Formats: sequence, structure tokens, C-alpha cells
Amino acid sequence: MRKKRSQFSNRFGFIAAAAGSAVGLGNIWKFPFEVGNGGGAAFLILYLIFCFGLAYPILVTEIAIGRRAHKSAAVAFRPLGHPRWSFIGILGVACGMIILSFYNVVSGWVFGYFVEILTGNFDIGKNFGGYIKDIPTIGGYTIAFSIATAVIVSQGVTKGIEKASKILMPLLVAIIVFLVIYAFTLPNSMEGIKFYLIPNIHAINMEVIYRSLGQAFFSLSLGLGAMITYGSYLGRNENIPSAAALITLTDVSIAFLAGLMIFPFVFSQGLEPTGGSGLIFITLPGVFQTMGPVLGIIIGSLFFLLLTFAALTSTISLLELPVAFLSDKFKMKRRPAVWLSAFIILMLSIPSMLANGYSGFFTNFITYFGRNEATDFMTFVTDLASNTLLPIGGFLISIFSVYIWKRHKLFRELSHGSPGFTKSFAARYIGFSLQYVSPVILGVIIIITILETFFGFNMFAK
Ligand code: PHE
Repeated sequence: MRKKRSQFSNRFGFIAAAAGSAVGLGNIWKFPFEVGNGGGAAFLILYLIFCFGLAYPILVTEIAIGRRAHKSAAVAFRPLGHPRWSFIGILGVACGMIILSFYNVVSGWVFGYFVEILTGNFDIGKNFGGYIKDIPTIGGYTIAFSIATAVIVSQGVTKGIEKASKILMPLLVAIIVFLVIYAFTLPNSMEGIKFYLIPNIHAINMEVIYRSLGQAFFSLSLGLGAMITYGSYLGRNENIPSAAALITLTDVSIAFLAGLMIFPFVFSQGLEPTGGSGLIFITLPGVFQTMGPVLGIIIGSLFFLLLTFAALTSTISLLELPVAFLSDKFKMKRRPAVWLSAFIILMLSIPSMLANGYSGFFTNFITYFGRNEATDFMTFVTDLASNTLLPIGGFLISIFSVYIWKRHKLFRELSHGSPGFTKSFAARYIGFSLQYVSPVILGVIIIITILETFFGFNMFAK
């Protein structure tokens, strides 16, 4: 007998929650600056190829594993008959905690921007560098944000997020669409559009490939079992391939729109697209200012508030990883599991908070990719998690699903809720990608990363 486990109220609830996990700072903060650093359209194209060709099949697989096992990531492999593979889930829990450690900090910046713009401080963009090293402020917001996530997660995942995603996400999209239209009216906006949409083949190099792949995983919340956990709450008769397609399309569209909004803004203000992780924070306040004080405050504060909520629906899925692990594996009660995890993650956030100018050690932390300047700790963990750990997770999940668990079992699970699946084009597409594309592409990238990191190869140097 299957134990009763809380479920999403319906198909929409699941899609809303999973899309809520996917859509977040990854789309609106990280994606634009990665595109900016990665040469514009070239990065965008690679990202799209990786999302649909490689990440989508892994998303389908993660959801299927979760639903079949009826368990969260760290304990899902035992009921499938392969307890040894549980290390994938445990790796995912660790990776989720690493991601949260910087994600909470950036969410704190976003919430802080909401407060600043609400009080009419449009100059905050020019003071971004000073703002993020103001530790009492940033620390306060980070703590507040961590507590908000913990409170929601302690109520159980299926409540709360559905509602938040249902109303707030469409509102965020509406504001972005408005901003895209506004962006087109600004002088020099065409330069931004060209940078974003007309590819320059010479911009493609090993680093751009590596980063766009990592971005696809990060953006879709893949490779760490977050979607395994959400899948474990999904009902038997839901159609996984089509739900996953909808999640992918939503996520990719929102990232695409964010780029369409930001680059005209960047170019119309004469800023550089290569501004790094401060890109949206430096660019947007000036844009809101041009709308006049009333409209600027309304649109600007609403934008950052909605982005705070988008971040929250992502941090919920991240915190759920260690929490489900502690409660499923060690039978810990939900509440203490939540607060213990949140506390550990908050401690892990400290170096990231200090890495933006406050502490010299964490600000100039490490040098890699053949660069001359040192990278700060926060950028380093962001890169490590999204470009290395998540693709490793994705590699292991695809290998597991087709070679260990076996393709026919995966397909049988996918047929529940999608009766003709096994004979469909989608089945061939997903099967081919998992069996050949993922292992080869991810395998090569992982090997290169290892050579680069441990043996000093310099393939990323431009
Ligand atoms: N996908 C989220 C975003 O784009 C981040 C995330 C990564 C959430 C991994 C959960 C797991 O913001």
C-alpha cells in the first residue's frame, strides 16, 4: 500500500509550483548578466539549444523518478530498487544548500531595492557597489528573507506556493512586458536588441558553451533533485511530458523577455552589457527614474516586490531539499528540520555577504578560467553550483534513468497520464537525448572542467 502523501490539488497546482521553482532570479538577474558577459545572442542561442535539447528531457526524467518513487530526492532511489544511487540525491541536497547560500543574499538585495525605490531613491543603481557592502542592511534583509522561506516551507510545500504562483507570476510577466515595450521607445534601444538577437559566431568559445549549459540547468532548477521532490507530490494520472514542456516554455520565455527588456535599457543609458552580477541592479533604477516620480515608484517598487516573490517560490523548492532529506531519511519532524536547515544555510551565506567589497579576502577570492583578476567568493560559488555541480547531477540522472533504472521503466512511468507515449515522437526525442546527447555532452564538459580545475589546462582562456 502506498502511504498517503500530500499532493498538489491538481495539474495546475503542480505546474504552478514547478514553474515557480524554475522562474526566479535565474531568469531576471542571472540570465541577463550571463548573456551580457557571454557576448549576447551567441549565448542566447546556445542556452535555448541546451534548454530544449538537453534540459527538457532531464526535467521529464526527474519528475518521473519522483512520482514513481513517491519520495523526495535523497531517498527516491531506494524504492526504485537502486539504493546505491542515493548519492545523487545527497549531492543534490548539498548543492541546493550551496545555491541557497548565495540566492538568499541576492534575494535580500532585491527586497532592499524594493524598499529603496518605494522611498524614491532612484540613485541606488549608482550606489550599488556601496549598497552591497553595507553588511548590517544586507545581512538584515538576508535574514528576513531566510525566515520568510522557512515559515512557508514549515507549512508544507503544497499549500501557499500554488496560490502565490497563480497570481503573482502572471503579474510579474505583465510588468516585464510593459517594460519591454517601454524599452523599445528609448534612444539607442536598437543597439541593445542587436546585441541580444544578432549572433556573433566569434563570441562562442568554450567558456560560453560551459556557462550557457550551466544556465539552462540553473534556470530550470535541474540536476539537484528539486524536481524529483516536486514530482513526488504529483498525482498518477498527470501527463508529465506535457507538464514539463509547459514549465520549460514558461521559464525560457520569461528569461527571453528579461533579456529583451534589459539590453535596450543598458545601451540606452550608455552602460556596458558586461557589467556582471550587478547588471540589473545598476541599470533598472535609472530606467524607473525616467518614468517620472509617481509612475517610476509604482512600477519600480512593484517590479522588485514581484521579483522578491519569484525568488521566494524558488527558495522554497531549494529549502525543501534538505528538509525533505532530514524528515524522510532521519524521521526528523518537519518544523525542526526546517529551522535547522535554514540556520545552517544562513551561516553558509556569510562569506557571500562579505564577498562584495566588505572583506578583501572573500572579495578577491580565487582566480580561474585563465583570467587575470580574482573572482569574488559569491561569484565563485554561483559558478561552481550552476556550471559544475548541476551538470554533474544532470549527467548522473540521465545515466541512471536509461542505463540503470532502464528506459522501459521510465517510459512506463511516463505512460501514466499519457497513454500513447511510448510510441510518440516525444518518447524518441526524450530517449535519444537521455541516452546519447546528455551523457556525451555533459561528460565532455565535466571532463574538461576537471582537467581545467585540477590539472591547470587553460581551455577557457580567450
Ligand atoms: N531555477 C531557479 C531560478 O531560476 C533557481 C533554482 C535552481 C531553484 C535550482 C531550485 C533549484 O531562479
